[in-house]
Amino acid sequence: MYGQVLALASLASSSALVNAVAVDSKYFTNDINKVGTQKDIIPFLYGSAPYFSYPVNTSIPVDIPEQCELVQVHVYARHGERYPTASAAKGINQAWYKFGNYTEKFTGSLSFLNDNYQFPFANESNWGLLTTPENAVNPYNPFLGSLTGTSHGEEFYARYHELLDAHPNFTIWTSNSNRVHATSEYFIKGLGDDYKVNLEIISENGTMGANSLTPISACVNWDWNNAKDKNISTTFSTQYLTDITKRLNTANPGLNMTNSDSYNLFNWCAFEMNTRGYSDMCDVFTQDELINYSYYGDIVTYYDEFMGNDLALAVGSVSTNATLTLLNTPEDELDQTVFISFTHDTHLLQYMAGVGLFANGKALTSKAVDFHNEFKRAPLVQEGARVYTQKFNCKGASNTTESFVRYVVNDVVQPLDACHNGPGFSCSLSDYNAYIKNRFEGVNFMEQCGVSKISNISELTFYWDYKTKNYDVPLII
Ligand SMILES: *[C@@H]1O[C@H](CO)[C@@H](O)[C@H](O)[C@H]1NC(C)=O
Ligand SMILES: *[C@@H]1O[C@H](CO)[C@@H](O)[C@H](O)[C@H]1NC(C)=O
Ligand SMILES: *[C@@H]1O[C@H](CO)[C@@H](O)[C@H](O)[C@H]1NC(C)=O
Ligand SMILES: *[C@@H]1O[C@H](CO)[C@@H](O)[C@H](O)[C@H]1NC(C)=O
Ligand SMILES: *[C@@H]1O[C@H](CO)[C@@H](O)[C@H](O)[C@H]1NC(C)=O
Ligand SMILES: *[C@@H]1O[C@H](CO)[C@@H](O)[C@H](O)[C@H]1NC(C)=O
Ligand SMILES: *[C@@H]1O[C@H](CO)[C@@H](O)[C@H](O)[C@H]1NC(C)=O
Ligand SMILES: *[C@@H]1O[C@H](CO)[C@@H](O)[C@H](O)[C@H]1NC(C)=O
Ligand SMILES: *[C@@H]1O[C@H](CO)[C@@H](O)[C@H](O)[C@H]1NC(C)=O
Ligand SMILES: *[C@@H]1O[C@H](CO)[C@@H](O)[C@H](O)[C@H]1NC(C)=O
Ligand SMILES: *[C@@H]1O[C@H](CO)[C@@H](O)[C@H](O)[C@H]1NC(C)=O
Repeated sequence: MYGQVLALASLASSSALVNAVAVDSKYFTNDINKVGTQKDIIPFLYGSAPYFSYPVNTSIPVDIPEQCELVQVHVYARHGERYPTASAAKGINQAWYKFGNYTEKFTGSLSFLNDNYQFPFANESNWGLLTTPENAVNPYNPFLGSLTGTSHGEEFYARYHELLDAHPNFTIWTSNSNRVHATSEYFIKGLGDDYKVNLEIISENGTMGANSLTPISACVNWDWNNAKDKNISTTFSTQYLTDITKRLNTANPGLNMTNSDSYNLFNWCAFEMNTRGYSDMCDVFTQDELINYSYYGDIVTYYDEFMGNDLALAVGSVSTNATLTLLNTPEDELDQTVFISFTHDTHLLQYMAGVGLFANGKALTSKAVDFHNEFKRAPLVQEGARVYTQKFNCKGASNTTESFVRYVVNDVVQPLDACHNGPGFSCSLSDYNAYIKNRFEGVNFMEQCGVSKISNISELTFYWDYKTKNYDVPLII
């Protein structure tokens, strides 16, 4: 628990209250005037910084077209804002040790370190956790992962509650990662008190095979170093890092910064926003450096996790197949018509690969920043990212009813390139079936991934068998 001190309420808010109220002492170690002033750089931070809506609007209303009726919604959501995981935190701590061993006064963009700076990543128990009022260095940070989870639930309720009201006792699925599970609980809180929500916790272990929210764990043949192996990430210019390193060492002789330290400062900037609401470290970078850093992340992600990896479609076929089955099931045969699942960025990317969202552009090159490529990591799988599937039934000219499918990625409708001639740029369910069949020609998750080395479970079943099988495993970090 944090200490409480007495202060005037007018310090804590602009309200005109005159009574003294309890204010958390952490309040005074943060400069609230800086909170929210760094929104412009959030899209350049690898998706590790706070949530933002997809920045380019197709301008297609998210509302269901007038002549249509919403009948199903599926959601795949990433956990909200969090602390760095152990490996990222160790990198940040390397830089912090250098600063700690530096005996001179800092000058230039690091001079904020002279002013009683509170380092937010020393406590190992927080590494990898969702940021909440209990663990954040600034409990008043509006970008906390807990708040993003709750407001996502509230927004979902506002737009889709009619489907929930029809089945007020329903199930939501989460992987067993602590931050993913915590996000699902905050989301459920945001839905309000009208429902009885049953939460099924699906193990991330590869032994689950295809019955998983993280099927990549079972893909034994997956190459996590694909971008390196193909010499793509290693040939992108590191001039932006050299520039930062030189600048900081020139301003602070004897600091001995390396390019790897400079690289870790971007994580420092991103993750500090998740816990403090702002980061003075973000002011170290020029806009050009942010652009190059961001693009480097796009390259690595494209080749290690997305379409640049030969197995992306195979892994993405798992959730694509499962949701295809749901879409083709008449609603009166379903116990609920809303299917919400919480997982990680990697899984969202492979689901988008499977479905064909942002997946049809040309491969990213390491020669120079490819400004016009449709694939960018941060706007797709930032903290709190969410991919919605809407299914709606529409009346046609001859009074017949037809079903349509449409995707909404981070609050913006994203039509499928190959199929969007339905109402609101949706794809008719019959065309969608043909489209997916064609997309997965020659794709086989079990065989291509070598899954049998770890599991022989070849189908995702938890959306159907949760009533008889109890999915409940301990949480992991
Ligand atoms: C995008 O535009 C549509 C149509 O005007 C609107 O409904 C939607 O809210 C907009 N989305 C965002 C994120 O601004
Ligand atoms: C100095 O560096 C060492 C080794 O990197 C580290 O263990 C130590 O904590 C640093 N000292 C300070 C005050 O940061
Ligand atoms: C930088 O390197 C020099 C020479 O090895 C060393 O004396 C100094 O302590 C180092 N500075 C820091 C901050 O680690
Ligand atoms: C470290 O973090 C854990 C988990 O948030 C918390 O319980 C503990 O009190 C923290 N320790 C310190 C010294 O702040
Ligand atoms: C809600 O659904 C769950 C799972 O299907 C079931 O076990 C439980 O009995 C139901 N509760 C109520 C109040 O209907
Ligand atoms: C997955 O489960 C197996 C069998 O229970 C266990 O041996 C293994 O350590 C687990 N893997 C991970 C990454 O937890
Ligand atoms: C990557 O570079 C190394 C060293 O230049 C070379 O041996 C290897 O063939 C390259 N790999 C690919 C896939 O181009
Ligand atoms: C950014 O990357 C380009 C390649 O697209 C490179 O030419 C340029 O030097 C880099 N700029 C900085 C500031 O690193
Ligand atoms: C997905 O469906 C296709 C076509 O029915 C099938 O070939 C493929 O094996 C399925 N993959 C999974 C993981 O269920
Ligand atoms: C259209 O179909 C509905 C039933 O789906 C029916 O009640 C209605 O009378 C039909 N309207 C016309 C103009 O045929
Ligand atoms: C999967 O089945 C094959 C063939 O029966 C068997 O050789 C393999 O050991 C099984 N894999 C696992 C993880 O049980």
